[in-house]
Amino acid sequence: MSQEESGNNKQAAASRRQFLRAGIAGGAALAGATAARAAGDPLITEIQDWNRYLGDGVDAAPYGVPSEFEAHVVRRDVPWLTADPVSSVNFTPLHELDGIITPNGLCFERHHGGTAIINPADHRLMINGLVDRSLVFTMQDLMRFPRENRVYFLECAANSGMEWRGAQLNGCQFTHGMVHCVVYTGVPLKYLLQEAGVKTTGKWVLAEGADASAMTRSIPIEKALEDCLVAFKMNGEALRPEQGYPVRLVVPGWEGNMWVKWLRRLEVGDEPWAQREETSKYTDLLESGKARRHTWVMDVKSVITSPSPQAPITHGRGQTVITGLAWSGNGTISRVDVSIDGGRNWRMARLDGPSLSKAMHRFYLDIDWDGSEMLLQSRAIDEAGYVQPTKNELRVERGVNSIYHNNGIQTWYVKGDGEVENVEVS
Ligand code: MTE
Ligand code: CO
Repeated sequence: MSQEESGNNKQAAASRRQFLRAGIAGGAALAGATAARAAGDPLITEIQDWNRYLGDGVDAAPYGVPSEFEAHVVRRDVPWLTADPVSSVNFTPLHELDGIITPNGLCFERHHGGTAIINPADHRLMINGLVDRSLVFTMQDLMRFPRENRVYFLECAANSGMEWRGAQLNGCQFTHGMVHCVVYTGVPLKYLLQEAGVKTTGKWVLAEGADASAMTRSIPIEKALEDCLVAFKMNGEALRPEQGYPVRLVVPGWEGNMWVKWLRRLEVGDEPWAQREETSKYTDLLESGKARRHTWVMDVKSVITSPSPQAPITHGRGQTVITGLAWSGNGTISRVDVSIDGGRNWRMARLDGPSLSKAMHRFYLDIDWDGSEMLLQSRAIDEAGYVQPTKNELRVERGVNSIYHNNGIQTWYVKGDGEVENVEVS
Protein backbone atom coordinates (compact mmCIF):
# COMPACT_ATOMS: atom_id res chain seq x y z
CA MET A 1 0.00 0.00 0.00
CA SER A 2 1.46 3.40 -0.92
CA GLN A 3 1.71 6.19 1.63
CA GLU A 4 -0.93 8.17 -0.22
CA GLU A 5 -3.34 5.25 -0.06
CA SER A 6 -2.89 4.73 3.65
CA GLY A 7 -3.44 8.49 4.06
CA ASN A 8 -6.67 8.11 2.11
CA ASN A 9 -7.77 5.25 4.32
CA LYS A 10 -7.17 7.37 7.42
CA GLN A 11 -9.20 10.15 5.87
CA ALA A 12 -11.93 7.69 5.01
CA ALA A 13 -12.02 6.38 8.59
CA ALA A 14 -12.14 9.95 9.90
CA SER A 15 -14.99 10.87 7.58
CA ARG A 16 -16.84 7.68 8.57
CA ARG A 17 -16.53 8.65 12.24
CA GLN A 18 -17.76 12.15 11.46
CA PHE A 19 -20.71 10.73 9.60
CA LEU A 20 -21.54 8.34 12.42
CA ARG A 21 -21.56 11.24 14.88
CA ALA A 22 -23.74 13.33 12.54
CA GLY A 23 -25.79 10.24 11.81
CA ILE A 24 -26.86 9.71 15.41
CA ALA A 25 -28.46 13.16 15.62
CA GLY A 26 -29.71 13.05 12.01
CA GLY A 27 -31.04 9.51 12.41
CA ALA A 28 -33.00 10.44 15.53
CA ALA A 29 -34.60 13.38 13.73
CA LEU A 30 -35.52 11.18 10.79
CA ALA A 31 -37.03 8.43 12.97
CA GLY A 32 -39.05 11.01 14.91
CA ALA A 33 -40.50 12.43 11.71
CA THR A 34 -41.43 8.97 10.45
CA ALA A 35 -43.10 8.04 13.76
CA ALA A 36 -45.14 11.26 13.74
CA ARG A 37 -46.31 10.61 10.18
CA ALA A 38 -47.18 7.00 11.07
CA ALA A 39 -49.77 7.94 13.69
CA GLY A 40 -53.12 7.01 12.19
CA ASP A 41 -51.57 5.94 8.87
CA PRO A 42 -54.04 3.40 7.34
CA LEU A 43 -51.09 1.59 5.79
CA ILE A 44 -50.16 0.72 9.37
CA THR A 45 -53.57 0.45 11.04
CA GLU A 46 -55.54 -1.41 8.34
CA ILE A 47 -54.93 -4.79 6.73
CA GLN A 48 -54.11 -4.39 3.05
CA ASP A 49 -55.26 -6.62 0.16
CA TRP A 50 -51.80 -8.10 -0.34
CA ASN A 51 -51.81 -9.12 3.28
CA ARG A 52 -55.29 -10.64 3.11
CA TYR A 53 -55.40 -12.57 -0.21
CA LEU A 54 -53.14 -15.24 -1.67
CA GLY A 55 -50.71 -14.07 -4.32
CA ASP A 56 -49.80 -15.55 -7.73
CA GLY A 57 -48.40 -19.06 -7.78
CA VAL A 58 -44.91 -20.02 -8.86
CA ASP A 59 -45.68 -20.31 -12.58
CA ALA A 60 -46.93 -16.76 -13.10
CA ALA A 61 -43.71 -15.79 -14.90
CA PRO A 62 -41.48 -18.69 -16.05
CA TYR A 63 -38.87 -16.08 -16.91
CA GLY A 64 -39.06 -13.45 -14.17
CA VAL A 65 -39.67 -9.78 -14.88
CA PRO A 66 -39.33 -6.74 -12.59
CA SER A 67 -42.18 -5.51 -10.40
CA GLU A 68 -44.92 -3.60 -12.23
CA PHE A 69 -43.99 -0.63 -10.04
CA GLU A 70 -40.58 -0.52 -11.73
CA ALA A 71 -42.03 -0.23 -15.24
CA HIS A 72 -40.41 3.19 -15.71
CA VAL A 73 -36.93 1.67 -15.34
CA VAL A 74 -36.15 1.10 -19.00
CA ARG A 75 -33.64 1.90 -21.70
CA ARG A 76 -34.56 5.11 -23.48
CA ASP A 77 -33.39 6.86 -26.62
CA VAL A 78 -33.06 10.44 -27.79
CA PRO A 79 -35.33 10.64 -30.85
CA TRP A 80 -33.41 13.35 -32.73
CA LEU A 81 -30.04 11.69 -32.30
CA THR A 82 -30.13 9.15 -35.13
CA ALA A 83 -32.22 8.78 -38.24
CA ASP A 84 -33.17 5.11 -38.02
CA PRO A 85 -33.52 2.58 -35.16
CA VAL A 86 -31.33 -0.02 -36.91
CA SER A 87 -28.38 2.34 -36.76
CA SER A 88 -29.09 3.82 -33.40
CA VAL A 89 -28.48 3.79 -29.69
CA ASN A 90 -30.47 3.64 -26.48
CA PHE A 91 -29.22 4.40 -22.99
CA THR A 92 -28.82 2.57 -19.67
CA PRO A 93 -31.03 4.10 -16.91
CA LEU A 94 -28.04 4.71 -14.60
CA HIS A 95 -30.08 6.96 -12.30
CA GLU A 96 -32.28 4.01 -11.27
CA LEU A 97 -29.51 1.51 -10.58
CA ASP A 98 -27.25 0.80 -7.63
CA GLY A 99 -24.26 -1.43 -7.03
CA ILE A 100 -21.95 -2.05 -9.97
CA ILE A 101 -23.71 -4.64 -12.17
CA THR A 102 -26.09 -3.67 -14.98
CA PRO A 103 -29.09 -6.01 -15.31
CA ASN A 104 -29.12 -7.65 -18.75
CA GLY A 105 -32.39 -6.08 -19.88
CA LEU A 106 -31.11 -2.58 -19.12
CA CYS A 107 -27.73 -2.68 -20.90
CA PHE A 108 -27.66 0.09 -23.50
CA GLU A 109 -27.65 -1.05 -27.13
CA ARG A 110 -25.68 0.35 -30.03
CA HIS A 111 -26.28 -1.16 -33.44
CA HIS A 112 -24.92 -0.09 -36.80
CA GLY A 113 -27.13 -2.53 -38.72
CA GLY A 114 -29.80 -3.71 -36.29
CA THR A 115 -29.83 -6.82 -34.07
CA ALA A 116 -28.79 -9.97 -35.92
CA ILE A 117 -30.90 -12.99 -34.95
CA ILE A 118 -28.65 -16.06 -35.10
CA ASN A 119 -29.40 -19.65 -34.14
CA PRO A 120 -26.29 -20.79 -32.26
CA ALA A 121 -26.39 -24.06 -34.22
CA ASP A 122 -25.82 -21.98 -37.38
CA HIS A 123 -23.08 -19.78 -35.97
CA ARG A 124 -19.44 -20.23 -36.97
CA LEU A 125 -16.29 -18.42 -35.83
CA MET A 126 -13.38 -18.51 -38.25
CA ILE A 127 -9.71 -17.74 -37.60
CA ASN A 128 -7.62 -17.10 -40.71
CA GLY A 129 -4.72 -14.98 -41.99
CA LEU A 130 -1.20 -15.26 -40.60
CA VAL A 131 -1.81 -18.50 -38.68
CA ASP A 132 -0.41 -22.02 -39.00
CA ARG A 133 -3.91 -23.51 -39.35
CA SER A 134 -7.10 -21.73 -40.42
CA LEU A 135 -9.85 -22.91 -38.09
CA VAL A 136 -13.63 -22.78 -37.92
CA PHE A 137 -15.29 -23.20 -34.52
CA THR A 138 -18.91 -24.07 -33.83
CA MET A 139 -20.44 -22.81 -30.56
CA GLN A 140 -20.02 -26.33 -29.20
CA ASP A 141 -16.30 -26.22 -30.05
CA LEU A 142 -15.93 -22.91 -28.18
CA MET A 143 -17.63 -24.33 -25.09
CA ARG A 144 -14.89 -26.98 -24.80
CA PHE A 145 -12.11 -24.47 -24.12
CA PRO A 146 -11.31 -23.48 -20.52
CA ARG A 147 -13.43 -20.46 -19.65
CA GLU A 148 -13.15 -17.50 -17.28
CA ASN A 149 -15.52 -15.08 -15.50
CA ARG A 150 -14.65 -11.39 -15.49
CA VAL A 151 -16.54 -8.21 -14.61
CA TYR A 152 -15.92 -5.38 -17.08
CA PHE A 153 -17.52 -2.10 -18.06
CA LEU A 154 -18.22 -1.45 -21.74
CA GLU A 155 -18.36 2.22 -22.69
CA CYS A 156 -19.10 3.51 -26.20
CA ALA A 157 -16.42 6.00 -27.30
CA ALA A 158 -19.30 8.39 -28.09
CA ASN A 159 -20.65 8.34 -24.51
CA SER A 160 -21.09 12.00 -23.40
CA GLY A 161 -20.31 12.96 -27.01
CA MET A 162 -23.28 15.34 -27.21
CA GLU A 163 -21.82 17.36 -24.32
CA TRP A 164 -18.56 18.48 -25.97
CA ARG A 165 -19.78 21.99 -26.77
CA GLY A 166 -21.86 22.51 -23.64
CA ALA A 167 -24.49 21.02 -21.34
CA GLN A 168 -27.23 19.58 -23.51
CA LEU A 169 -29.09 16.47 -22.33
CA ASN A 170 -31.06 16.49 -19.10
CA GLY A 171 -30.30 13.21 -17.37
CA CYS A 172 -27.33 10.96 -16.65
CA GLN A 173 -29.13 8.26 -18.65
CA PHE A 174 -28.56 10.40 -21.75
CA THR A 175 -25.27 12.12 -20.87
CA HIS A 176 -23.55 8.97 -19.53
CA GLY A 177 -25.78 5.97 -20.29
CA MET A 178 -23.74 4.46 -23.14
CA VAL A 179 -22.03 2.29 -20.55
CA HIS A 180 -22.82 -0.99 -18.84
CA CYS A 181 -21.01 -3.41 -16.58
CA VAL A 182 -21.67 -7.15 -16.40
CA VAL A 183 -19.87 -10.36 -15.52
CA TYR A 184 -18.83 -12.11 -18.74
CA THR A 185 -18.18 -15.80 -19.13
CA GLY A 186 -15.97 -16.62 -22.06
CA VAL A 187 -12.86 -18.22 -23.49
CA PRO A 188 -9.65 -16.17 -23.42
CA LEU A 189 -8.96 -15.16 -27.04
CA LYS A 190 -5.37 -16.25 -26.42
CA TYR A 191 -6.43 -19.93 -26.31
CA LEU A 192 -8.15 -19.73 -29.70
CA LEU A 193 -5.17 -17.93 -31.26
CA GLN A 194 -2.79 -20.51 -29.76
CA GLU A 195 -4.91 -23.28 -31.26
CA ALA A 196 -4.54 -21.66 -34.69
CA GLY A 197 -0.84 -20.86 -34.13
CA VAL A 198 -0.09 -17.17 -34.79
CA LYS A 199 2.88 -16.72 -37.15
CA THR A 200 5.73 -14.48 -35.94
CA THR A 201 4.67 -11.89 -38.52
CA GLY A 202 1.15 -11.73 -36.99
CA LYS A 203 0.88 -8.37 -35.19
CA TRP A 204 -2.81 -7.47 -35.51
CA VAL A 205 -6.17 -9.20 -35.27
CA LEU A 206 -9.18 -8.10 -37.31
CA ALA A 207 -12.47 -8.85 -35.54
CA GLU A 208 -15.56 -9.04 -37.76
CA GLY A 209 -19.25 -9.25 -36.88
CA ALA A 210 -21.90 -11.39 -38.58
CA ASP A 211 -24.54 -8.62 -38.55
CA ALA A 212 -25.61 -6.51 -41.53
CA SER A 213 -23.04 -3.84 -40.58
CA ALA A 214 -20.23 -6.45 -40.57
CA MET A 215 -18.52 -4.35 -37.91
CA THR A 216 -14.75 -4.72 -38.28
CA ARG A 217 -11.94 -3.43 -36.07
CA SER A 218 -8.17 -3.98 -35.88
CA ILE A 219 -6.81 -4.98 -32.48
CA PRO A 220 -3.08 -5.18 -31.67
CA ILE A 221 -1.96 -8.75 -30.96
CA GLU A 222 -0.60 -7.78 -27.51
CA LYS A 223 -4.12 -6.81 -26.38
CA ALA A 224 -5.65 -9.90 -28.03
CA LEU A 225 -3.26 -12.11 -26.04
CA GLU A 226 -3.49 -10.08 -22.82
CA ASP A 227 -7.12 -10.07 -21.65
CA CYS A 228 -9.65 -10.27 -24.52
CA LEU A 229 -12.44 -12.81 -24.12
CA VAL A 230 -14.70 -14.52 -26.61
CA ALA A 231 -17.80 -14.34 -24.42
CA PHE A 232 -21.08 -16.21 -24.61
CA LYS A 233 -22.63 -15.43 -21.21
CA MET A 234 -23.44 -12.18 -19.38
CA ASN A 235 -24.49 -12.16 -15.73
CA GLY A 236 -24.66 -15.95 -15.87
CA GLU A 237 -27.11 -16.36 -18.75
CA ALA A 238 -26.69 -16.39 -22.52
CA LEU A 239 -25.88 -13.02 -24.11
CA ARG A 240 -29.01 -11.13 -25.09
CA PRO A 241 -29.56 -10.96 -28.89
CA GLU A 242 -28.92 -7.21 -28.79
CA GLN A 243 -25.59 -7.78 -27.02
CA GLY A 244 -24.30 -10.15 -29.71
CA TYR A 245 -25.87 -13.57 -29.09
CA PRO A 246 -24.44 -16.13 -29.40
CA VAL A 247 -20.91 -14.72 -29.03
CA ARG A 248 -19.13 -11.36 -28.74
CA LEU A 249 -15.63 -10.07 -28.27
CA VAL A 250 -14.76 -8.50 -24.90
CA VAL A 251 -11.92 -5.96 -25.09
CA PRO A 252 -11.49 -4.83 -21.46
CA GLY A 253 -11.07 -1.10 -20.83
CA TRP A 254 -11.12 -0.24 -24.54
CA GLU A 255 -13.79 1.61 -26.51
CA GLY A 256 -17.08 -0.25 -26.97
CA ASN A 257 -16.90 -0.18 -30.76
CA MET A 258 -14.11 -2.79 -30.67
CA TRP A 259 -16.27 -5.25 -28.69
CA VAL A 260 -17.54 -6.87 -31.88
CA LYS A 261 -20.93 -8.51 -31.42
CA TRP A 262 -22.07 -11.63 -33.29
CA LEU A 263 -18.34 -12.35 -33.71
CA ARG A 264 -17.75 -14.48 -36.79
CA ARG A 265 -14.18 -13.97 -37.96
CA LEU A 266 -10.75 -13.20 -36.57
CA GLU A 267 -8.05 -12.53 -39.14
CA VAL A 268 -4.43 -12.26 -38.10
CA GLY A 269 -2.40 -9.73 -40.10
CA ASP A 270 0.82 -7.72 -39.98
CA GLU A 271 -0.71 -4.20 -39.93
CA PRO A 272 -3.99 -2.50 -39.04
CA TRP A 273 -6.69 -2.69 -41.74
CA ALA A 274 -7.86 0.96 -41.69
CA GLN A 275 -11.53 -0.02 -41.74
CA ARG A 276 -14.26 2.63 -41.78
CA GLU A 277 -14.73 2.43 -38.00
CA GLU A 278 -11.06 3.24 -37.38
CA THR A 279 -10.63 6.03 -39.95
CA SER A 280 -13.67 8.20 -40.71
CA LYS A 281 -15.25 7.12 -37.41
CA TYR A 282 -13.73 6.55 -33.96
CA THR A 283 -10.86 8.98 -34.62
CA ASP A 284 -10.72 12.33 -32.82
CA LEU A 285 -10.41 15.44 -35.01
CA LEU A 286 -8.31 18.07 -33.24
CA GLU A 287 -8.38 21.87 -33.64
CA SER A 288 -5.25 21.63 -35.86
CA GLY A 289 -7.15 19.53 -38.41
CA LYS A 290 -5.12 16.46 -37.50
CA ALA A 291 -6.93 13.48 -36.03
CA ARG A 292 -5.89 11.30 -33.14
CA ARG A 293 -6.36 7.65 -34.06
CA HIS A 294 -6.08 4.35 -32.22
CA THR A 295 -7.44 6.05 -29.11
CA TRP A 296 -8.57 2.79 -27.63
CA VAL A 297 -8.43 3.17 -23.85
CA MET A 298 -11.49 4.64 -22.11
CA ASP A 299 -9.93 7.07 -19.66
CA VAL A 300 -10.92 7.58 -16.02
CA LYS A 301 -14.47 8.92 -15.66
CA SER A 302 -17.30 9.24 -13.14
CA VAL A 303 -20.80 10.62 -12.81
CA ILE A 304 -23.22 11.25 -9.96
CA THR A 305 -26.26 9.13 -10.78
CA SER A 306 -28.46 10.39 -7.92
CA PRO A 307 -29.40 13.11 -7.37
CA SER A 308 -29.47 13.90 -11.11
CA PRO A 309 -32.06 15.45 -13.46
CA GLN A 310 -34.14 12.25 -13.65
CA ALA A 311 -33.62 11.54 -9.94
CA PRO A 312 -34.37 14.78 -8.07
CA ILE A 313 -34.35 15.05 -4.25
CA THR A 314 -37.96 14.57 -3.20
CA HIS A 315 -37.55 14.07 0.56
CA GLY A 316 -36.57 17.62 1.51
CA ARG A 317 -33.61 18.68 3.58
CA GLY A 318 -31.68 16.47 6.00
CA GLN A 319 -29.99 13.11 5.56
CA THR A 320 -29.26 12.68 1.83
CA VAL A 321 -27.40 10.03 -0.14
CA ILE A 322 -25.28 11.22 -3.06
CA THR A 323 -24.20 8.29 -5.20
CA GLY A 324 -22.54 7.57 -8.52
CA LEU A 325 -20.31 5.41 -10.65
CA ALA A 326 -16.63 5.63 -11.56
CA TRP A 327 -14.62 3.57 -14.03
CA SER A 328 -11.31 3.52 -15.86
CA GLY A 329 -9.84 1.54 -18.75
CA ASN A 330 -6.50 1.74 -16.93
CA GLY A 331 -7.52 -0.48 -14.00
CA THR A 332 -9.25 0.09 -10.68
CA ILE A 333 -10.50 3.37 -9.23
CA SER A 334 -8.42 4.43 -6.24
CA ARG A 335 -10.47 7.44 -5.16
CA VAL A 336 -13.51 9.56 -5.98
CA ASP A 337 -13.97 13.11 -4.68
CA VAL A 338 -17.34 14.86 -4.61
CA SER A 339 -17.95 18.61 -4.58
CA ILE A 340 -21.25 20.26 -3.71
CA ASP A 341 -20.04 23.75 -4.66
CA GLY A 342 -18.99 23.37 -8.29
CA GLY A 343 -15.45 22.18 -7.64
CA ARG A 344 -14.25 24.73 -5.06
CA ASN A 345 -14.11 22.21 -2.22
CA TRP A 346 -13.86 18.45 -2.45
CA ARG A 347 -14.73 15.65 -0.04
CA MET A 348 -13.57 12.08 -0.45
CA ALA A 349 -16.46 9.78 -1.29
CA ARG A 350 -16.86 6.27 0.14
CA LEU A 351 -16.21 3.49 -2.39
CA ASP A 352 -18.44 0.51 -1.65
CA GLY A 353 -18.62 -2.88 -3.35
CA PRO A 354 -16.02 -4.87 -5.25
CA SER A 355 -13.10 -2.90 -6.72
CA LEU A 356 -12.24 -4.76 -9.92
CA SER A 357 -9.92 -3.73 -12.72
CA LYS A 358 -11.73 -2.14 -15.69
CA ALA A 359 -15.10 -2.50 -13.95
CA MET A 360 -17.58 -0.04 -12.47
CA HIS A 361 -16.99 1.25 -8.97
CA ARG A 362 -19.85 2.54 -6.80
CA PHE A 363 -19.33 5.60 -4.59
CA TYR A 364 -21.41 7.38 -1.95
CA LEU A 365 -21.25 10.66 -0.06
CA ASP A 366 -23.76 10.79 2.79
CA ILE A 367 -24.57 14.41 3.62
CA ASP A 368 -26.90 16.45 5.77
CA TRP A 369 -28.47 18.68 3.08
CA ASP A 370 -29.50 22.09 4.43
CA GLY A 371 -31.79 22.71 1.46
CA SER A 372 -29.52 25.23 -0.25
CA GLU A 373 -28.56 25.04 -3.92
CA MET A 374 -25.71 22.69 -4.84
CA LEU A 375 -23.42 22.34 -7.84
CA LEU A 376 -22.66 18.63 -7.64
CA GLN A 377 -19.54 17.19 -9.24
CA SER A 378 -17.56 13.98 -8.97
CA ARG A 379 -13.89 13.53 -9.87
CA ALA A 380 -12.37 10.05 -10.13
CA ILE A 381 -8.72 9.05 -9.84
CA ASP A 382 -7.56 5.66 -11.15
CA GLU A 383 -4.82 3.30 -10.02
CA ALA A 384 -2.53 4.62 -12.75
CA GLY A 385 -2.83 8.04 -11.07
CA TYR A 386 -4.94 9.67 -13.81
CA VAL A 387 -7.29 12.35 -12.52
CA GLN A 388 -10.57 12.96 -14.34
CA PRO A 389 -10.23 16.36 -16.10
CA THR A 390 -12.68 19.24 -16.19
CA LYS A 391 -14.51 19.74 -19.49
CA ASN A 392 -12.54 22.94 -20.09
CA GLU A 393 -9.22 21.18 -19.52
CA LEU A 394 -10.29 18.62 -22.13
CA ARG A 395 -11.30 21.32 -24.61
CA VAL A 396 -7.88 23.00 -24.32
CA GLU A 397 -6.23 19.71 -25.31
CA ARG A 398 -8.69 18.43 -27.89
CA GLY A 399 -10.86 21.28 -29.13
CA VAL A 400 -14.56 20.63 -29.72
CA ASN A 401 -14.61 18.88 -33.11
CA SER A 402 -14.65 15.35 -31.79
CA ILE A 403 -17.58 13.53 -30.28
CA TYR A 404 -15.47 10.72 -28.82
CA HIS A 405 -13.69 10.24 -25.49
CA ASN A 406 -15.34 12.97 -23.44
CA ASN A 407 -14.46 12.02 -19.85
CA GLY A 408 -14.87 15.54 -18.43
CA ILE A 409 -16.32 16.27 -15.00
CA GLN A 410 -20.15 16.53 -15.03
CA THR A 411 -21.99 19.23 -13.05
CA TRP A 412 -25.55 18.90 -11.75
CA TYR A 413 -27.28 22.02 -10.43
CA VAL A 414 -29.52 21.02 -7.50
CA LYS A 415 -32.12 23.67 -6.72
CA GLY A 416 -33.66 24.40 -3.32
CA ASP A 417 -36.75 22.34 -4.22
CA GLY A 418 -34.59 19.33 -5.09
CA GLU A 419 -35.02 19.57 -8.89
CA VAL A 420 -31.79 18.99 -10.82
CA GLU A 421 -30.46 20.41 -14.10
CA ASN A 422 -27.48 19.67 -16.35
CA VAL A 423 -25.17 22.73 -16.30
CA GLU A 424 -21.52 23.68 -16.73
CA VAL A 425 -19.39 25.82 -14.47
CA SER A 426 -16.46 27.78 -15.87
N1 MTE B 1 -20.61 -5.18 -33.19
C1 MTE B 1 -21.35 -5.39 -34.30
N2 MTE B 1 -21.21 -6.57 -34.95
N3 MTE B 1 -22.21 -4.45 -34.78
C2 MTE B 1 -22.36 -3.24 -34.14
O1 MTE B 1 -23.15 -2.42 -34.60
N4 MTE B 1 -21.62 -1.78 -32.28
C3 MTE B 1 -20.41 -1.47 -31.51
C4 MTE B 1 -19.99 -2.65 -30.63
N5 MTE B 1 -19.98 -3.87 -31.40
C5 MTE B 1 -21.59 -2.98 -32.97
C6 MTE B 1 -20.72 -4.02 -32.52
C7 MTE B 1 -20.53 -0.29 -30.65
S1 MTE B 1 -20.31 1.23 -31.37
C8 MTE B 1 -20.65 -0.40 -29.30
S2 MTE B 1 -20.61 0.96 -28.30
C9 MTE B 1 -20.89 -1.71 -28.65
O2 MTE B 1 -20.91 -2.77 -29.56
C10 MTE B 1 -22.22 -1.65 -27.91
O3 MTE B 1 -22.45 -2.86 -27.26
P1 MTE B 1 -23.89 -3.14 -26.62
O4 MTE B 1 -24.92 -2.99 -27.70
O5 MTE B 1 -23.79 -4.49 -26.02
O6 MTE B 1 -24.10 -2.08 -25.56
CO1 CO C 1 -20.16 2.64 -29.70
